[in-house]
Amino acid sequence: AFDIRKIRAESGYISYDESYGNTGSCQSEITFINGEKGILRYRGYPIEDLAEHSSFLESTYLIIYGELPTQSQLDAFRNKVRDSAEVHVGMEHHFDGFPTGSHPMAILSAMLNSLGCYYPEMSTNNRQQDLESFDDAVAVLLSKVRTLAAMSYRMQVGKHFIYPKHKLRYSENFLHMMFSDPYQDYDDSSGLAHALDLFFLLHADHEQNCSTSTVRMVASGGANLFASVSAGVCALWGPLHGGANQAVIRMLQEIHDSGDDGRRFIESAKSGDAKLMGFGHRVYKNYDPRARILGKAAEKVLSAIGYEDDPLLNIARNLEQAALEDDYFVERKLYPNVDFYSGLILKAAGIPPEFFTVMFAIGRMPGWLANWHEVASDEKARIHRPRQVYQGPGVRDYVPIENR
Ligand code: ACO
Repeated sequence: AFDIRKIRAESGYISYDESYGNTGSCQSEITFINGEKGILRYRGYPIEDLAEHSSFLESTYLIIYGELPTQSQLDAFRNKVRDSAEVHVGMEHHFDGFPTGSHPMAILSAMLNSLGCYYPEMSTNNRQQDLESFDDAVAVLLSKVRTLAAMSYRMQVGKHFIYPKHKLRYSENFLHMMFSDPYQDYDDSSGLAHALDLFFLLHADHEQNCSTSTVRMVASGGANLFASVSAGVCALWGPLHGGANQAVIRMLQEIHDSGDDGRRFIESAKSGDAKLMGFGHRVYKNYDPRARILGKAAEKVLSAIGYEDDPLLNIARNLEQAALEDDYFVERKLYPNVDFYSGLILKAAGIPPEFFTVMFAIGRMPGWLANWHEVASDEKARIHRPRQVYQGPGVRDYVPIENR
């Protein structure tokens, strides 16, 4: 019988796939992507249908447990997440240790790892035990990632923490903890909570992207859920991954400030002097289906708050149009990705740009949780341990320090 492990062990053969562009690192039942056709499905359900009919929490249940919930399952799940929103008072003191100006992603990663210390029974690094408390840990992480994120924002702007309100839905509660004041509740009359819920839903999973692969890598060594998702936050931080939404707004603002309508910028992206942030994707060689949905949502949200002529939205429209008609982008199959329009929605919601990647992390939590579970519950799973193609010097004689 064909035994790849035996062949590898006997031949020393290593396959090299630079940046894993064509390597399937695992088998998974969670998310399907066809990048050539621009298809994305969670557990078989097209993203377009979920975006239209579902909510972030319902899709989260689907991603984690594999099926759409019945009404009573959804109610129970919502209640469990709602009841987990507050953090231990000890955690409030952790915030005092961070200097003003600390990046919220650094805070979030540290806080999620620390959170595990408050739930030792859920973070044992014993796979069986961690799996037994998985449902409780899901509610804790899903709910508190949002609370901790809002707390880090309040700390940065020098305001008191606002505690969660039980009657509010997931995204409403987040906006409440971010923007309410002790004597005035956040007013959501323009429907931003709904747009934010859609943003979270569209980010909920995306198969083996950099951060989810990181979560699986850490999980494969047997690390607990809290440690694994904390590593996922660090992987998400970079500008080529979760940081791109922030970079898009910075780029649109710079284009606007320079008096360009987007055309000059397109030329500099083609000559390699700039990168058109929010364009291109390792997997999608077609329109990212999430970008289509968010593009429409951005138009709707901005007109609801009377910003339909927002200059940055106009520049985004021009860039998209120009790039889609330009041979450089067409030949390389560079289309808008999810980040191209998401920053405009977040900006409209009053979220500061340095906080955008944190928003992505809140949205991506379901995917990290589901992928951790898939690794932890696979009895045959081995530790992830890629090889390398060594390019350094051959064997050398040690030179005593006085002779160097
Ligand atoms: N602007 C201009 N040119 C680009 C862009 C871009 N945004 N993206 C890729 N290209 C060009 C490359 O220079 C390269 O050109 P060449 O063939 O002449 O050398 C060609 O298109 C292929 O690009 P690669 O870099 O090989 O694509 P890769 O798969 O490695 O990178 C990535 C994908 C990182 C997303 C890249 O397109 C990029 O940097 N985009 C901007 C950042 C961004 O929006 N990231 C968000 C990704 S989605 C997410 O994480 C949610």
